[in-house]
Amino acid sequence: MKKQEGFTGKLGYVLAAAGSAVGLGNIWRFPYLAAKYGGGIFLLTYLVLALTFGYTLLIAESCLGRMTGRGPIGAFRKLCVGRHPFLRPLRIGGYINALVPLIIVPYYCVIGGWITRYVVTMLTTDVAQFHKDNAGASAEYFTGFISSTWSPLVFFLIFVALMVAVIAFGVQKGVERFNKVLMPILLVLLVALCVYCAFQPGAGEGFSYYLKPDFSKFSYKTVIAAMGQLFFSLSIAMGIMITYGSYMRKEDDLVANVNHVEIFDTAVAFIAGLMIIPAVVAFDGRQAAENAGAGLVFITMPQVFANFPGGKWVGAAFFVFVLFAAATSALSLLETNVQTLSQELRISRAKAIALGVVEIVVIGVVTILGFGVWDHIRPLKFIGRGNDGILDSLDFVSNYVLMPVGAIFICLLVIFAVGLNRVSQEVKGDAKRPWRREYVFRFCMVVLTIPTLLAVLLMAKSVLD
Ligand code: PHE
Repeated sequence: MKKQEGFTGKLGYVLAAAGSAVGLGNIWRFPYLAAKYGGGIFLLTYLVLALTFGYTLLIAESCLGRMTGRGPIGAFRKLCVGRHPFLRPLRIGGYINALVPLIIVPYYCVIGGWITRYVVTMLTTDVAQFHKDNAGASAEYFTGFISSTWSPLVFFLIFVALMVAVIAFGVQKGVERFNKVLMPILLVLLVALCVYCAFQPGAGEGFSYYLKPDFSKFSYKTVIAAMGQLFFSLSIAMGIMITYGSYMRKEDDLVANVNHVEIFDTAVAFIAGLMIIPAVVAFDGRQAAENAGAGLVFITMPQVFANFPGGKWVGAAFFVFVLFAAATSALSLLETNVQTLSQELRISRAKAIALGVVEIVVIGVVTILGFGVWDHIRPLKFIGRGNDGILDSLDFVSNYVLMPVGAIFICLLVIFAVGLNRVSQEVKGDAKRPWRREYVFRFCMVVLTIPTLLAVLLMAKSVLD
């Protein structure tokens, strides 16, 4: 197996990994979960988890990747083969990690299609129609759109085509160049919108909902939801950071790289929440925040733009940047799938891309129909999740079931097959760089990660609505 192509330098890895991490998870998924699961208490839980588990897994995966120079399946195999028979079954972990992106990428592209649609909506329709005085118009528009058949399908295909076009440039050129320019602009735009939303009448209550933890709202569901979101947002427990770690060079500072990704990803999610939650409370009231679902960003942001001077253009710019953030993340998902498929099925990269795209289109189309003609289908009803349509079911299985399992395997691999000392050596590198949070890593790895993740998994079965 050949060594993966290397990035051009530290910034290259950070940008690529941050490009993968920052995406719809931050701007679409995080705000609606935060709104739904109690605001401040969700935020607090999320931050604590990000600094402990998130950090630990991010380090572990990047390290496994760099150590082995492989993607998930290869890394697990290399570290397990020829070892004690007790360790060999751990190899399954590689497959579980590799399976997750295959499940996520189709529905990710469906949402990417929604974003694409909203770019066009902003440009071609009158944003005044979404004005908050026109009660319910924004929500109606959104529901009407996703429940139709052709429009979501066409925009989904446009999004997929965009992604395939980018992947054709190859990892370095495609991902790095896009991210270098677009990420900072996205961040600036988010901050500007945040400031604007802060001045809406009624936003104050939204701020306190988002920033002040209400401990009476805390339950195990908060933890499960926050943890699933953490995996999703940091692109961990799905083989991606293993793959990206394999691109990192030995002389790169792994700790600094991981810190950048962790901080940047969390900051973008936090700011997106700061933008959307006060706005939804200001426009539609607190109840609307608590009832938020996957449509939140699509319903609330157009209302913001309807009020905004030149809102049409700002709205279009917003959705364009989110579109690129989504595209770079989708790209990293597809890239991982392509590697898995080409290595496991021993087919060429071109064939693997074709196969990966077919998989996205088939499952994506099924997901889209799940909002229209197939909206009565409840794939997980048999485990008591009768509210979840197709998209929510895919999201549930990947985020709350497979990712925690995948994470457990990573922990087992690190603890038993690699050993914490070897990880420490790898992380510090030949330069023996200081690693300030090493104790956090060791503590979470051994004491906290496995029992907690197991608990999450057992609880995931319970209804998370
Ligand atoms: N982390 C990305 C986001 O927040 C989504 C993603 C998940 C990308 C898994 C790659 C892998 O949108």
